Amino acid sequence: KNIVQMIPKVIFVLSLYRSAYAFCPPNVMGSNIQRLKLGTPSTPLCYRRTRPRIGMSDGTRLVPSLNNSLVEVGCDNAKKDFLVYEHMLGVISNHAASSGKLGSITLVGAGPGDPDLLTLGALKAIHAADLVIADRLVSKEILALIKSELKIAQKYPGCAHDAQNEIYRWCAEGLVEGKKIVRLKIGDPFVFGRGGEEVLELRKFGVEAKVIPGISSALAGPLAAGIPVTHRGVANRVVFCTGMGKEESIPDIPAYHPEQTCVFLMAVGRLKALTDDLTKGGYPSTTPVGIIERATTPHERTIRGTIEDIVILASEEKIRPPSVIVVGEAVNVLSKQEKHHQTIIPFRRSAMSLESLSKACEPSGE
Ligand SMILES: C[S@@+](CC[C@H](N)C(=O)[O-])C[C@H]1O[C@@H](n2cnc3c(N)ncnc32)[C@H](O)[C@@H]1O
Repeated sequence: KNIVQMIPKVIFVLSLYRSAYAFCPPNVMGSNIQRLKLGTPSTPLCYRRTRPRIGMSDGTRLVPSLNNSLVEVGCDNAKKDFLVYEHMLGVISNHAASSGKLGSITLVGAGPGDPDLLTLGALKAIHAADLVIADRLVSKEILALIKSELKIAQKYPGCAHDAQNEIYRWCAEGLVEGKKIVRLKIGDPFVFGRGGEEVLELRKFGVEAKVIPGISSALAGPLAAGIPVTHRGVANRVVFCTGMGKEESIPDIPAYHPEQTCVFLMAVGRLKALTDDLTKGGYPSTTPVGIIERATTPHERTIRGTIEDIVILASEEKIRPPSVIVVGEAVNVLSKQEKHHQTIIPFRRSAMSLESLSKACEPSGE
């Protein structure tokens, strides 16, 4: 009798699921669907699609969200993030369900550009990789050392977010293919490089990335231009700043101190606004400023000026990213030049040839 009483309730619950499923247009749910446990453990099973439309430009769609409700998926970043997350979760959980072994991922700092500034750890990881996913700024001399499959993220201002999502997708795909992935990042992965964010993102999928440090352009840039960021009696502290924060927000500048060196990354595109902010922040207009463009590469250039005239100098010299801006008395401490402009000889290669160094680090084949 109890079972008979339950039948209408069961039919009602099933019809709810059916209508939720039917509500999704076929092009959203697609034929490629899987059963996944969604939301909290008490949340019932639901159908959802496994193939997201990353970077789609065909308007808003409806897809089931993680808590089983239907959400709109259009073209803004939050919605794309949802799709990427969904995709990676789908790809990785499918793989785990079929008891497939995941590959590994190592975030590797590539240094500022000169291959001589790679660490031995970085070079070994590059040689051992099946897939290298590099950022656009990694120098072509370093890319030339890569023998494995190589993918380069095209992170340009305004589309960095999409490129980042594409990187996560490549990571997920490489992981399920069991590949040893090197995520090659300019400078140091944890200095304004989203390295921490990538570690957190990968953890969501149960993957713990190894991280190999690199020489940051924040230190190598000034050094290549002959600027010691600390110097007794001149600079007793260094502050590393970004000129561009999350979602293109503008971070505050550090408070003025006469014995402080400020190193700004990602700021040359808004040099005028930066110098205005420094002036408003109480920095004397005579404070020395150095800009090092493409530090440690054969195209390295340096200009020196002051907060007052650096904008004009940079415009005359057509200074472009990637550049490091150094503000403080340390800029001139080793400079004998009276002229503001100074073009520095490119960083000199070490005595050991790159080829022999590279051979020394190749896996022995054990
Ligand atoms: C996304 S940040 C990455 C920083 C990197 N993680 C590091 O530690 O150098 C990119 C910025 O780094 C700086 N940069 C990187 N390589 C550089 C180079 N070779 N010369 C000058 N600036 C560089 C520029 O300010 C550029 O806009």
